[in-house]
Amino acid sequence: MNFDFDSLIERRGTGCIKYDRRPELDPFWVADMDFASAPAILEALHRRVEHGVFGYAQAHEGLNDAIVSYLRERRGATVPVEHIVHLGGLVPALSLAARAFCQAGEAVMTCTPVYPPFLGVHHDASVELIKVDHVLNDGKWSFDWEAMERAVTSATKVFLLCNPQNPLGRVFPKHDIERLAGFCETHDLILVSDEIHCDLIFDEAATPHVSGLNLSDRFAGRSITLLSPSKTWNIAGLGYAYAVIPNDSLRRKFTAARGHTLSEINALSYYAAEAAYRYGEPWRRELVTRLQQNRDTLVEFIQTRCPGLSVRAGDATYLAWIDATGLGVENPALHFERNAGLFLSDGAFFGWPQFIRFNFGCPRARMLEGLEKIAAAIP
Ligand SMILES: Cc1ncc(COP(=O)(O)O)c(C=O)c1O
Repeated sequence: MNFDFDSLIERRGTGCIKYDRRPELDPFWVADMDFASAPAILEALHRRVEHGVFGYAQAHEGLNDAIVSYLRERRGATVPVEHIVHLGGLVPALSLAARAFCQAGEAVMTCTPVYPPFLGVHHDASVELIKVDHVLNDGKWSFDWEAMERAVTSATKVFLLCNPQNPLGRVFPKHDIERLAGFCETHDLILVSDEIHCDLIFDEAATPHVSGLNLSDRFAGRSITLLSPSKTWNIAGLGYAYAVIPNDSLRRKFTAARGHTLSEINALSYYAAEAAYRYGEPWRRELVTRLQQNRDTLVEFIQTRCPGLSVRAGDATYLAWIDATGLGVENPALHFERNAGLFLSDGAFFGWPQFIRFNFGCPRARMLEGLEKIAAAIP
């Protein structure tokens, strides 16, 4: 082990959402980790800070080169720089897609449970939202193709995909992604694929990531792929993401939808992103190993110590989607807030109120403290 994933770093009082929003609670909610970012990223930030001038920024050549290499080597896609749209975060891209490609009376479609902004961006565009639940297929989360066929309408224009899936932790296999692409072609939908968790897959041989960028050339005309190093290298607070949009007309509409609503992108974030992609791989590998150990410990703990709760081992990321139906309480997140002093993510915001989401992106000792509090508050 070359990197430190055990030290408890005090985050309270640093102006962080996770700890400082509800200081009276012990937080395992929002999706950032309690680890310091990779040393290579901190060094790049220090160097940029030393320069001392923080005027308006644009992506420098080094970042564009690092992204193009990353997309080629890790995602198996050859992407010209012109296809990349830099953004100050990924959620704005979901909103831009809804606003760029849907008019009043039209709809975006997605599958639930899902990261809450997927269920909110249609409001930005004043359009409808069509939701279909994910289902278990042979014990693995998948799509309910029949329900999707029943739900989709001729007014549906965009499908929002989350892969790897937050909160299910599922990496959808090739046949699912290809079938979804076929669904989008049949119904003339633009596929917006949020892949922000794709570098947090535990076993890439068993569950390889199939990116929107890996679909056929024909499909590239209707695909928008959203990526960011922010979840993996714990730099979400710097605000940076990018869209890859091969189709010129889609890209123009997408960027035009920004209007005057988005600020310039944080000058530091560009340098952090470059360092993540160029030098962050050794840290990432150790991180994923540690997260996998946490996941295994958590699954065993919930199964053996927490009657009424159940959880499936996810394929990726540091979020556990815990089914609390068996507890028989009306609002599980509130139950653990009141009885354990925990701040967990309430499944209701993801579309499934009987679930809670637990963030295990933290030192093992800290995760165990949180789990013990859950166990002690089982009614
Ligand atoms: C699936 C998914 N997309 C997007 C985001 C947030 O992206 P950003 O902070 O860049 O807007 C998150 C954060 O948890 C996420 O889980």
